[in-house]
Amino acid sequence: MKILIVGANGLMGQAALKGLAHHDVVTASRSGSTCDHQVDITNTASIRALFEKVGQVDAVICAVGHCEYAPFVTMTDDQWRVTIESKLLGQINLVRVGCDYVADCGSFTLISGILNIKPVPEAIADATTSGAIDTFVRCVAHEMPRGIRINVVNPTVLEEAWDVYGAMMPGFEPVPGALVGKAFQRSVEGFISGEVLIVDA
Ligand SMILES: NC(=O)c1ccc[n+]([C@@H]2O[C@H](COP(=O)([O-])OP(=O)(O)OC[C@H]3O[C@@H](n4cnc5c(N)ncnc54)[C@H](OP(=O)(O)O)[C@@H]3O)[C@@H](O)[C@H]2O)c1
Repeated sequence: MKILIVGANGLMGQAALKGLAHHDVVTASRSGSTCDHQVDITNTASIRALFEKVGQVDAVICAVGHCEYAPFVTMTDDQWRVTIESKLLGQINLVRVGCDYVADCGSFTLISGILNIKPVPEAIADATTSGAIDTFVRCVAHEMPRGIRINVVNPTVLEEAWDVYGAMMPGFEPVPGALVGKAFQRSVEGFISGEVLIVDA
């Protein structure tokens, strides 16, 4: 299968790659560093330009979603806007534009995160947008054209990211990227649609 992974050079993108490396993988990220292509998922013209270059694909993986972290009472307009434009609208727009470029019976797999199920302090924007993405996927699956499937991987913190997020997640058990990679693989290679694939310890 030809699979486009957006955010491939990030920690979650690397986890997705672990499960899908045996396919014909095309990679993209905001900087394009160590990737095949550059894209900004907060800009629909940039998303369309990416697909015009890549052409038709069998599956699209999104491992992108910038989140701002702060106590709810101090969250600024900008922090909410940036998080919503990236983790929520960015991923929705990747699906809206990408629908024109995904093969019949192909698939999308998006990313959310466990904090909408297990909240922690200072992560309200991540939790809110993760919950919205889970809902988007469950519901839009009924409207996808040409047999296209859509799922979302909702993982707990990665072992590979424990040094970044561990301090804000006491009592959580991280999971290896290879395990999360299997959830991406199950979404892409299986027949499920509209599912939230929770990966927790
Ligand atoms: N890490 C975890 O343990 C974990 C657990 C659960 C959920 N998640 C979720 O997974 C997502 C990715 O997290 P991460 O830890 O992998 O972050 P990361 O290591 O910082 O990687 C972020 C990736 O997203 C790309 N990116 C950022 N903004 C972009 C944009 N506007 N357009 C295109 N690409 C963009 C980056 O590209 P460049 O590097 O080129 O800028 C990079 O490839 C987040 O939504 C996070 O909440 C992460």
